[in-house]
Amino acid sequence: MLKVLVASSKGGAGKSTLATNLAAYYAVDGKNTVLVDADRQGSGLRWCEKRAPHANAVLGVSGLRRDWDKHIPADAQRVVIDTPAGIRPNEVEAYLERIDAVLVPVLPSAIDLEATAPFLSELAELGRIKRGKVAVGLVANRLKPWTNASQLAVEEIRQFPFPLVAELRDTQGYVLANALGKSIFDYHSELVRSHQEDWHKLLRWLKKHS
Ligand SMILES: Nc1ncnc2c1ncn2[C@@H]1O[C@H](COP(=O)(O)OP(=O)(O)O)[C@@H](O)[C@H]1O
Ligand SMILES: [Mg+2]
Repeated sequence: MLKVLVASSKGGAGKSTLATNLAAYYAVDGKNTVLVDADRQGSGLRWCEKRAPHANAVLGVSGLRRDWDKHIPADAQRVVIDTPAGIRPNEVEAYLERIDAVLVPVLPSAIDLEATAPFLSELAELGRIKRGKVAVGLVANRLKPWTNASQLAVEEIRQFPFPLVAELRDTQGYVLANALGKSIFDYHSELVRSHQEDWHKLLRWLKKHS
């Protein structure tokens, strides 16, 4: 059972977008998939409810209680955990015994890069991460690849102490799909397929750490 935590010190970086799309990818791939929502705002659970009537449902489980993992069915194959903004490294530590990988979305702006750098340094000091038991991958999100700002941000993210495992572009596709309980993996137009390709490296990286 692969368990992936999505976390960042910043709000609005794309945690819920990342978590729901990843969960949907696995569900579309035929895996029994659970989305654990540890954010009081509950956007992850609402997305699961909207998705429920459609194909490839994802089971939503509240992550607000400490014993959330008791509510994961035994036959679950993929678990994605969405977390609230402002999570502290010691709160991440509480998950480390129970997960395989952490994904940290980062937006291409100085505010986000500067807020993320100390968070990553602190993560790098946590025992299970230091010993390589839990992998951490960075996801540059909402990129506009033709802009200087995005190009510079990607260069800066490459200097961070963890690998850059995806460069996701800014697209309304994520916004529109999410509102319907869907993901970019539920559509097949040429445009959407090009955005799916942004995920290939990340998906391979997660496979390696499962
Ligand atoms: N790659 C993207 N392209 C376009 N909009 C995005 C993208 N990622 C996130 N968003 C939008 O940015 C906002 C914040 O994203 P969200 O996933 O809710 O962040 P978080 O959970 O970290 O607070 C949402 O309105 C979401 O639809
Ligand atoms: Mg969120």
